[in-house]
Amino acid sequence: MSRRRLGWAAAGAGLALGSCRAAPSTLDPRSPEARRLASAWWQMFALGAAVYAVVAGLIVWTLVRRRAGHRDGGADRERLFVVAGGVAAPVAVLAVVAFITVDTTADVGAASPGPALAVEVVGHTWWWEVRYPAGGRAGEPAVVTANELRIPVGRPVQLTLSSADVLHSFWVPELAGKVDLIPGATTTLRFSAERPGTYQGACAEFCGIQHANMRFLVVAEEPGGFDRWRARQGGPAAAPTSELEARGQAAFMGAPCAGCHTVRGTPATATLGPDLSDFGTRRTLGAGLLPNTAANLARWIVDAPELKPGVLMPPIALSPAEVDAIVAYLEALG
Ligand code: CUA
Repeated sequence: MSRRRLGWAAAGAGLALGSCRAAPSTLDPRSPEARRLASAWWQMFALGAAVYAVVAGLIVWTLVRRRAGHRDGGADRERLFVVAGGVAAPVAVLAVVAFITVDTTADVGAASPGPALAVEVVGHTWWWEVRYPAGGRAGEPAVVTANELRIPVGRPVQLTLSSADVLHSFWVPELAGKVDLIPGATTTLRFSAERPGTYQGACAEFCGIQHANMRFLVVAEEPGGFDRWRARQGGPAAAPTSELEARGQAAFMGAPCAGCHTVRGTPATATLGPDLSDFGTRRTLGAGLLPNTAANLARWIVDAPELKPGVLMPPIALSPAEVDAIVAYLEALG
């Protein structure tokens, strides 16, 4: 291979590795639970590698012996080999795997002891409703948001998960294992983030045409920052602070928007679509589809199905001035 070709190959490998690093990995754990799961992964990987090495070694050994003119060892030896290699060894290996699984499951359940922050997560085609029930510390009011799970660092979070329609699965590889969201039932998931950060999550169960665009973020912040956000979300949503935002609010309430969405403290109280009370603070729109920018939001409002085919939100007939005003209003919420 020429030096230039080698350079390109190295650049390609670097790119591939670079893009791998951008995706969240189970092997980059940031919680006690994910750490335990990653350790189980490595144990199983080591076991698999050992089995592979033994089998490959036996194949090579056989070939070398044959070539050297050795004869078969006879029927008894073959029978012994089948019983040991085909029955005893797999049973032993699977017993070890079963032990690792049961042991890890027990450890994961007990990795973050203590009082937990209760959060309800409801899966919808194709977005995530996140509800912080009223009560908790200091009688905090209920808060509803979407596609972003805000949590305080170092405090266990206890999720109760359910589905409004079909099967979904909640997965944040760096923080916890997957758990299914099942229509008509609830499941739970407990974890605690060790460091502040934004962790990528996704639906991990095929749930329809936009399954791949059912993503979310877990935003772990210092307890003080989380408490401030929680307190701010307790009151009515931010009121318009400019003439443009005021026109946007009026247009929002007059347009079909208010028929599907809630903005706390306004006449918009519908629950078909995501609650938009803190919309301006969200990093993405369309459940991870696009960055939450004014330009993207304008495109989304005018024709969401063009950006995310199959989405429930219909195209909305609005004048460009109305769209601009609604965008200004929504981007200021939070
Ligand atoms: Cu929800 Cu896949």
